[in-house]
Amino acid sequence: MTLLRLCRVDEVADDAPLRVEAAGAVYAVAKSAGAIFVLADQCTHGPGKLSEGTVLGSELECPFHQGRFDLRTGNPTYPPCTEMVRTWTATVKAGEIFIDPDEPAKPG
Ligand code: FES
Repeated sequence: MTLLRLCRVDEVADDAPLRVEAAGAVYAVAKSAGAIFVLADQCTHGPGKLSEGTVLGSELECPFHQGRFDLRTGNPTYPPCTEMVRTWTATVKAGEIFIDPDEPAKPG
């Protein structure tokens, strides 16, 4: 397993995800109640970028049609989203956020 560095923890605001481009992919890195979550930036419903969305408790709201996803699982929690978004387990080391980009997708 090769960990990919995304950003520093202190770069991620509490209410607004951070767009991170790394190794040819784009991620939305979010913070909720002090925990870090990493999702694919692309909404599964349409053109919305989740990094431009809003953290609402344990959910991330897409800015395009205000659909929502569970930050932990990527499962859709509010319409019009119906397909889960890819998530990765965040590893925090010395204030830096890493993922394993090859981590298997969680079952929906
Ligand atoms: S594009 Fe994200 S909810 Fe429609």
